[in-house]
Amino acid sequence: MNAKKLAAEKAVEKIEDHMVVGLGTGSTASHAINKIGERIKQGLVIKAVATSVASEKLALEVNIPLLPLAAIESVDIAIDGADEVDARGNLIKGGGGALLREKIVAFASRRFIVVVDQSKLTDTLGSFPLPVEIVPFAPALALKQLRALGCEPSIRKKEGKEFVTDNGNLIIDCRFARIEDPASLDTAIKKIPGVVETGLFLNTMVSEVIVGYENGETVTR
Ligand code: A5P
Repeated sequence: MNAKKLAAEKAVEKIEDHMVVGLGTGSTASHAINKIGERIKQGLVIKAVATSVASEKLALEVNIPLLPLAAIESVDIAIDGADEVDARGNLIKGGGGALLREKIVAFASRRFIVVVDQSKLTDTLGSFPLPVEIVPFAPALALKQLRALGCEPSIRKKEGKEFVTDNGNLIIDCRFARIEDPASLDTAIKKIPGVVETGLFLNTMVSEVIVGYENGETVTR
């Protein structure tokens, strides 16, 4: 059983006609996008907004009608994956580099459903390096300030070059030993000039987490 697919498809069941739906980014969210495409073929009427260029491309391939993010004031349901989910429902996201648009859409959503397989669950965040999106013109200053918050930061690279987000920014991956207090850390990081957004998604913005298991079960928390 594909546990990511199970969780994603369970979330897609919650979508109803005439909703505005937020499409997440990553392998789990892609299962949701494909399933939404199937439901549209069967008659579901929705509009959607994508959180990345990659998700937009996939959505167009499966004939999901899209609205531009610029036109969006609110979203009925957003469905997205996560890199880590702690026991209180706080998340680390941004492994795919789409954290800024993902957070804008999640924040705008009346219902934000997180879909993960069991491997993403942890007691305390921090095993997965925390992605932080920064403007591209002062990385050394941002690295220094982030290091002062107690992590080992490094600029994300892809194929030997700096990874550039869909928004033209850079990502710094921050290795913290443990993130005991995600809310305070999020506030502290956002005080650094040049930081655009962090990959910490606090539980206050999460409506539910659907966890898929290899044995075919899903658990909603
Ligand atoms: C994309 O930037 C991320 O936030 C993804 O949602 C996250 O990395 C989960 O990805 P997978 O579903 O591919 O594990």
